[in-house]
Amino acid sequence: MALEEKIKELKELREKARLGGGEKRIEAQHKKGKLTARERLEILLDEGSFEEFDMFVSHRTHDFGLEKQSFLSDGVVTGYGTIDGRLVYVFSQDFTVFGGSLSEMFAQKICKVMDKAMKVGAPIIGINDSGGARIQEGVKSLAGYAEIFQKNILASGVIPQISAIFGPCAGGAVYSPALTDFTIMSKNTSYMFVTGPKVVKTVTGEIVDEESLGGAMVHGSKSGVTHFIADNEEEGILLIRKLLSYLPQNNLEDPPLAVCDDPIDRLEDSLNELIPENPNKPYDVKDVIHAIVDYNEFLEVQRHFAPNIITGFARFNGMSVGIVANQPNYLAGVLDINSSRKAARFVRFCDAFNIPIVTLVDVPGFLPGTAQEYGGIILHGAKLLFAYGEATVPKVTVILRKAYGGAYDVMGSKHLRGDINYAWPTAEIAVMGPRGAVEVLNQKEIASIENSEEKTKFIQQKEDDYRKKFANPYVAAKYGYIDDVIEPRNTRFRIIRALQSLATKKEVNPPKKHSNIPL
Ligand code: HXC
Repeated sequence: MALEEKIKELKELREKARLGGGEKRIEAQHKKGKLTARERLEILLDEGSFEEFDMFVSHRTHDFGLEKQSFLSDGVVTGYGTIDGRLVYVFSQDFTVFGGSLSEMFAQKICKVMDKAMKVGAPIIGINDSGGARIQEGVKSLAGYAEIFQKNILASGVIPQISAIFGPCAGGAVYSPALTDFTIMSKNTSYMFVTGPKVVKTVTGEIVDEESLGGAMVHGSKSGVTHFIADNEEEGILLIRKLLSYLPQNNLEDPPLAVCDDPIDRLEDSLNELIPENPNKPYDVKDVIHAIVDYNEFLEVQRHFAPNIITGFARFNGMSVGIVANQPNYLAGVLDINSSRKAARFVRFCDAFNIPIVTLVDVPGFLPGTAQEYGGIILHGAKLLFAYGEATVPKVTVILRKAYGGAYDVMGSKHLRGDINYAWPTAEIAVMGPRGAVEVLNQKEIASIENSEEKTKFIQQKEDDYRKKFANPYVAAKYGYIDDVIEPRNTRFRIIRALQSLATKKEVNPPKKHSNIPL
């Protein structure tokens, strides 16, 4: 064959591979409101940066008529490219080829890019759109999944791993995204479940559709499986680009420093007025976050799940930080099972990837009740405690208002190696709130007063005394548990100064195989 013809052949093969399962199936994909595997990568990666691997791979199965049916690339597009000029490895499952189902060779392609990402220390991004294990390949396909899981596990805490779910993701296939750091789902076109509606009906009799069983809103608000919900795929892909801007390439690097023109000493007078006089009145802690971070920009993680705690990324003078904040606007910002799980995972991610943690505290304690106790709040609360206590990244904490009981200890306190701990003058640091304290300390006296008016007056008097004693930051400051009491409007400046002073922090935990975090 002449050279010219060989090049023509190469071009034709490439063209064929790019068509995946063919035009009809591409059309069907578009009709469902979904993009193809390659269209998704085009949006994700910087223009012209994609370098593809294994375009000519196809399966090697000879059962169920597969010997007559084969597609170049075998249902997954893999390679590397850049996002804002930074290297990333990618795989994008192609639903037009055998429903994106995972074969032995498909899995090998994914494992190859995961290995490369690990070798050079670059994030890996997987786009999932698959009917699960390729049924015709049997155990070869199951083995392929397990090999991916193993690599997910070894990569955890070494390189950022991000999963987008833009179609079906069912059965054991859900476990690869679940093992990664962040998952993003698109509304109406994606679902994740271990067993689908048909199996649910057969086994339990429950009738449920795909969306209600494992759609984006379900996993975004009820299970906490997904971290981001996008209105459509394009929005989801752009979200991945944004998320990566806050993250380092790997656990040995620092996150990128952004250029920042937002003055570090910008005063926020509104913060001096934010805390209501009535300690039981809520306010939105996101107002505080937006007011103090660079350009008021905050990328919230798990927005719809356990909204009594807020987690997300922002920058202070260009430095990337993870923010954890109790939200008085929802359940008074109480710590419960879900909020503890949510924040613990976030704190551990930040710690693994050298992202300082800024904690804003306004917490009335842990949620009481049988539902919480039976659900294991002791273990889940301990997760958050553990996460803060083991974290060695810079930790800056500001107590805005309430810091009661165990929740005071947990939320980035000095005693869990908080580096710089500030409090606003409105801070109340105590074992419990005034009402509960008076009920315990003065129960006999309260019981002995028969006249109800007198009783109320007595309780009020005792609560006022208690508040005077503990509802301020100065007792804690007296013992050095608070480094300074700061004016709310100065918070941005004080946090930036604190982070700057901690930029070279080095703290090492005792050597061990790994810890035994309460799971
Ligand atoms: C082989 C598959 C397939 C699979 C779909 N296809 N799933 N081929 N193995 N698992 C093929 C179909 O035959 C069809 O081929 C094409 O993909 C598109 O599928 P449709 O059914 O036409 O698409 P749609 O109506 O959109 O339905 C999508 C679907 C459905 C809901 C995903 O295909 C489905 O239920 N598939 C089976 C899902 C499943 O049970 N998977 C195993 C899960 S267990 P043609 O040639 O017609 O285009 C599992 C274990 C993992 O994954 C264990 C890991 C530890």
